[in-house]
Amino acid sequence: MKRTWIKDTVGSVDETVRVNGWVHSIRKMGDKLVFVDLRDGSGLAQVVFYKPDLDDAVSEVVDRLKPEFTVQIEGVVQKRGAKQINTDLITGTIEIGAATLTILNTSKTPPFEIGKDSSAVNEELRLKYRYLDLRTERMQRNIRMRDNITSFFRNYMHANDFIEIETPILMKGTPEGAREFIVPSRLHEGKFYVLPQSPQQYKQLCMVAGFERYFQIARCFRDEDQRGDRQPEFTQLDFEMSFVDREDVLSYTEAMFIEMVEKLFPEKTITSRPFPRYTHAEAIEKFGTDKPDLRVNKEDPNELAFGWIVDFPMFETLEDGTVQSQHHPFCSIHPEDMGKLDSDPMSVRADAYDLFLNGYELSSGSIRIHERELQKKIFSILGVSEEDQEGRFGHMLDAFTYGAPPHGGFAPGIDRIVMLMAGEPNIREVIAFPKTGDARDPMMDAPSMLDYKRLEDVHIQLRQKND
Ligand code: AMO
Repeated sequence: MKRTWIKDTVGSVDETVRVNGWVHSIRKMGDKLVFVDLRDGSGLAQVVFYKPDLDDAVSEVVDRLKPEFTVQIEGVVQKRGAKQINTDLITGTIEIGAATLTILNTSKTPPFEIGKDSSAVNEELRLKYRYLDLRTERMQRNIRMRDNITSFFRNYMHANDFIEIETPILMKGTPEGAREFIVPSRLHEGKFYVLPQSPQQYKQLCMVAGFERYFQIARCFRDEDQRGDRQPEFTQLDFEMSFVDREDVLSYTEAMFIEMVEKLFPEKTITSRPFPRYTHAEAIEKFGTDKPDLRVNKEDPNELAFGWIVDFPMFETLEDGTVQSQHHPFCSIHPEDMGKLDSDPMSVRADAYDLFLNGYELSSGSIRIHERELQKKIFSILGVSEEDQEGRFGHMLDAFTYGAPPHGGFAPGIDRIVMLMAGEPNIREVIAFPKTGDARDPMMDAPSMLDYKRLEDVHIQLRQKND
């Protein structure tokens, strides 16, 4: 007999079905009747074992059942009486009258209850047993919601002529501010790859390559201090478009987010449409931050207050006096400020924009530089020597000399979007296997030591630490 998903049993009243899943809970009523809530990837159903009707061998197996055992059950789907209907369950109108039971695997008692929300459980324990934590209803819902959201974005992008292109994970550094994770090369002694902070350079090179509309559900890696809305690896909906100006990117993105909310979260309301727009200077003056929380009612879990910040400063001065780009050095200059680059560079605005939602930065992007001379000028203002410009960014500078089109793009953070849609307090709740606040994976025990031979292969010798 073919296996039936639990969600589909409601369509098989009076038929015999085979179901597979986990024992969610067991309730014994006297010594004749045992109710088992059975859970599979699609939902939960009540299975009834009525011992007088069962073979002795089956009754004996029923007595051995414990929560989280995996089982196979065959039985007849029966309609419940009106009083027994459970409107909380998708299968609440039926129950399965079991005839056979096979235990496929036993389970130790889990370190926390699978049937309860695990948010109050110690996080180290949850992450050590993440595969059990993920069995809980809330975590299943969050991870499935994430899949819905990424599928929506993928379909939306394809429907608008974007193509998904995978860009390398082993690359040379991108100057986007954060510290990079370093990967030693075995074949090239003393040389290193770094993991991408974002596919910024590659997506621009995809524009030079003539694809015009690129996107990627892209993994990004940043070796920085963690916060509730930051992880060392995270995911962006990274995209880039050719022959566009700021208005094109903003209107495309705004329409996409509105459609996502309307299609996937019809219960939510968007506070203002079109999304309000502030210059960076206005936002700082008015709200004291460039990611204000503009919800009318902060207690309403369904209110979504999106907004735009535009015209970020191009440069900022660090405490030690060095100048750095506020976003990244590939941002173009605000068209009105082009004339001030030589005379007053610190007052120059970038053609850069952010999308914020409920007090979080959701996304950053900009119109990019596509001309070699302007890019070189920006590098010079940032104190990058001619030699370094060629050494580190020669490929970009060269690419710009072969008919690079004007282009711009954006990169909404998927983890933050899902966190806000799910109403979770941090992004770890919407990532299947996240790291702890200090960047560890307690389940695999990563990072870990490597043995001498493996380090030697990649030409690394550890120094004795002198305390
Ligand atoms: P930026 O660095 O602003 O821009 O990142 C874009 C968006 O990615 C998300 N994000 C993060 N999410 C979780 N953990 C992190 N550590 C983390 N860091 C960033 C945020 C953020 O708004 N290449 C540019 C984009 C561009 O110019 O097109 C970039 O990466 O939601």
